[in-house]
Amino acid sequence: MRVLVTGGAGFIGSNLVDALMEQGHQVTVVDDLSVGQRANIAHHLASERFRLVRGSILDRDVLEPLIRQCDLLFHLAAVVGVKYIVEDPRHGILVNVRGTENVLELAARHTVRTVIASSSEVYGKSTAVPLREENDRLLGPTTASRWSYAESKAIDEYIALAYAREGLPVTIVRYFNAYGPRLDPRGYGSVIARFITQATRGEPLTVYDDGEQTRCFTYVADTVQGTILAGTVEQAAGQVLNIGADREVSINELATLVKELAGSSSQITHVSSSTAFGPNFEETRRRVPDVARAREVLGFVARTPLEDGLQRTLDWFREHKPDDINTTERFS
Ligand SMILES: NC(=O)c1ccc[n+]([C@@H]2O[C@H](COP(=O)([O-])OP(=O)(O)OC[C@H]3O[C@@H](n4cnc5c(N)ncnc54)[C@H](O)[C@@H]3O)[C@@H](O)[C@H]2O)c1
Repeated sequence: MRVLVTGGAGFIGSNLVDALMEQGHQVTVVDDLSVGQRANIAHHLASERFRLVRGSILDRDVLEPLIRQCDLLFHLAAVVGVKYIVEDPRHGILVNVRGTENVLELAARHTVRTVIASSSEVYGKSTAVPLREENDRLLGPTTASRWSYAESKAIDEYIALAYAREGLPVTIVRYFNAYGPRLDPRGYGSVIARFITQATRGEPLTVYDDGEQTRCFTYVADTVQGTILAGTVEQAAGQVLNIGADREVSINELATLVKELAGSSSQITHVSSSTAFGPNFEETRRRVPDVARAREVLGFVARTPLEDGLQRTLDWFREHKPDDINTTERFS
């Protein structure tokens, strides 16, 4: 198939590209390289089946021929991560809403099978775990700008579902904290990147608040597998699906695990999230997906044990030594 991946130079996108290339597809990436890196996909540049287009999803002239010429579209390009959203909410909203609107409008014009990357953030502060796709959402006030990311992703979902009603075969995947090789310390779920970096440098592992907030960390190979199934299983069209592991881990447990796996003598310390993110910051307490629908519709289960995934991530970080990581920066 001719597959287009927006945001394909990013963390999840580049891992998705690896899997698609391995399956023998013809793959085009469109990415403005604002966060994504050429190095993430450099190993494919010599292949005749691969093409990188440096461009923005805000530019319809760039998108139109690419979408017209593809059979399957994975839309991952977005402004991602609390740090970016809190620093420049207007840009995040613009890219995440207008960019997605562009992608969906062109996909509908050419009736291209499409997968849209959404996020567990759309559930907001809801603690009605496990979070089912139909659950109510609970978001904070508009003055807390982190929620603009959740809102922009939710608007993307509304637009996608509206196009689905008009006949576009589109699936929405809500990712739960992906991690693994190429994890960008500035991005989403980067608490793992931060802990790994701190542990390998012998610096204190900084846990926000009491550390009893939980997440379900999903190894990126599993995230990618769920994404490809969402784009290829026919019954997935028109559906919203949680894509994540359902092992609930507190940030305290995660810190201990990373420290052990790294054989590190680092201390584990607690700092206030408002010191890191500012006084208006709101933390979400629990994030656990209900994985039943993904299992039913896609036959998808995230199988990689956290310990194995963390070990592989640790190995990757050791090999690539991203020395420029500032672990005191304001990222989550
Ligand atoms: N990583 C996670 O755990 C997670 C969780 C929930 C949702 N998501 C969603 O998954 C997708 C991929 O996330 P990721 O973690 O790989 O993030 P990422 O930042 O590594 O990837 C996003 C990519 O989009 C590109 N991009 C940004 N603005 C663009 C624009 N205007 N035009 C073209 N490209 C642009 C960036 O350069 C980057 O390569 C995003 O849609 C994100 O919202 C990720």
